Amino acid sequence: MDVYLFWIMAKNTVTITDNSTGKSIEIPLLQGTEGPATADIGKLYSELGIFTIDPGFTSTASCESKITYIDGEKGILLYRGYPIEQLAEKSTHLEVCYLLLHGELPSKTQLQSFRSSIGHHSMIHEGLKSFFNGFSRDAHPMSIMVSVVGALSAFYHDSLDIFNPEHREISAHRMIAKMTTIAANSYKYSVGQPFVYPNNELSYTENFLHMMFSVPAEKYEINPVVADALDKIFILHADHEQNASTSTVRLAGSSQANPFACISSGITALWGPAHGGANEAVIKMLMKIEKPENVNKYVEMAKDKNSTFRLMGFGHRVYKNYDPRAKILKETTERVLKALNVSTPLLEVAMKLEEIALKDPYFIEKKLYPNVDFYSGIILRAIGIPLNMFTVIFALGRTPGWISHWMEMIAEPKQKIGRPRQLYTGAVSRNYVDISKR
Ligand code: CMC
Repeated sequence: MDVYLFWIMAKNTVTITDNSTGKSIEIPLLQGTEGPATADIGKLYSELGIFTIDPGFTSTASCESKITYIDGEKGILLYRGYPIEQLAEKSTHLEVCYLLLHGELPSKTQLQSFRSSIGHHSMIHEGLKSFFNGFSRDAHPMSIMVSVVGALSAFYHDSLDIFNPEHREISAHRMIAKMTTIAANSYKYSVGQPFVYPNNELSYTENFLHMMFSVPAEKYEINPVVADALDKIFILHADHEQNASTSTVRLAGSSQANPFACISSGITALWGPAHGGANEAVIKMLMKIEKPENVNKYVEMAKDKNSTFRLMGFGHRVYKNYDPRAKILKETTERVLKALNVSTPLLEVAMKLEEIALKDPYFIEKKLYPNVDFYSGIILRAIGIPLNMFTVIFALGRTPGWISHWMEMIAEPKQKIGRPRQLYTGAVSRNYVDISKR
C-alpha cells in the first residue's frame, strides 16, 4: 500500500492528507496549562487507516492529568502546581498525600480528619500475617510487598466497587495507611523479629520508623532528624506523573481491576534497576567503586559502548537538567550525616563521581545529571535502613501518587481500556505444514 502523507501545521490543528486517496483529517492540537502542544491522533486509524509507533513513549502522552507537572529542560517539578522545593521544606508527607488525592492543600480540620482516617486504617487484618510466614526469610522484601499488597483485595472486598466514590476513597486511605505496616512487617520477618503494631499517636513517618525499628524488649526513641529526613524522602518520591510504575497502575486499572491489584502491579514495575531499583543499585555501585581514586575508571566504563555498565542514579527520561529532587537530597544527605555524626566513604565517592561526570563531555552532551536515586540511598543507609528495603521505601513514598492517578483515571467519564496497537513484522499468513514434512 502506497500512502503519501502531508502534514500541515496551523495554530490549533495539524492537517494530514493522504495523497493516494485525497482524504484529509484535521488533528486537534491540544494545549495544557503547562507543557508542549499535544496532537490528538485518536481518529487517525478510523479516518486514514494508519497507526503511529513510539516505543518507550518518548513523544506520546498516554492520558490527560491534573496531578503533577515536570519541565525536564528546566528541572521543575510541581505537585498540583506547588513547587517540590516548597513542599519538601514546609510540608509533611501526609499533607502531600492529601494534596495529591484532593488537588488542594488541606485546612487544619481536613488534615486532622485525614490523619485520623489514615490512623484508623493503619493495622492490617490478622489473617494477612500468615502470608508473611509462607516466604523464606531471605526473600527480597519487594517480592513480599507485591504479594501482600495484591492480597489486600482478598481481605478488604467491602470497598471494591470502583464506581462508588466512597469505596474508592476508603481503598485509597487503606492503601496509604497499610503500606507502612506491610513494609515494616516485611523487614521484621526477614530479621526474625516480632511484628510491631502501629501507634497512632505518632506521625505517619514516625509510625513507620517505630514499626521498623522498635522491639518489645526495649524502649525505642525516634530521632527527629531521622524522621524529618525520611519524611522528605517520602515527599520527594510521592509522584512523578506518567513514569513506568504509575503508567502500569493506570493500564491495569483501565481494565477495571481493583485498586489493590493495580498498586501491586505498580510495585512490580517499580522494582527494576532502571526505575525504583536504582537506589539499591547506586549503593552497590558506590561500594564497588570503594574510594574516590577509582571513580575515573568507572566513569570511563560507563562511557564505553562495549560495556553494559551505566552510572546508576544518573540520567532520566524527562530531566535533561539537574533533577530538583536530587538537589534537595544532596543537601539533606549532608545535614543528616552531620547531625548523626556519621561519616561514610560512600558520600565522598558519590560527590567525586558527580563532579567528574558533570564535567565530562559524554555526560554533558547527553544531558545526564544525578537523579533522585543518587543521594537517597546514602541517607537511607545512614539512618539504618537495610539495602534491600530501599526500593520498598520508594514504593511507600510513591503510593499516594499511584492511588491518586488511579482515582483520577476511574473518575474520568471518557476512560477506556488501555489497548496499544503494534507494528507487526512477523510471518505473513501461511498454511500449516504437517510434522512429517518439516
Ligand atoms: N550512564 C551512562 N550512560 C547513560 C546513562 C547512565 N546512567 N543513562 C543514559 N545513558 C546514555 C545511553 O547509553 C544513551 O546513549 P546513546 O544515545 O549513545 O545510545 C543515552 O544516554 C540515552 O539513554 P537512554 O537509555 O536511551 O535514555 P532513557 O531515557 O531511555 O533512559 C534511564 C533513562 C533513567 C533508564 C537511564 O538514564 C538509566 O538507565 N539510568 C541509570 C538507572 C537509573 O538511575 N534509574 C533511575 C531513574 S530516576 C528514578 C525513577 O524514575 O525511578
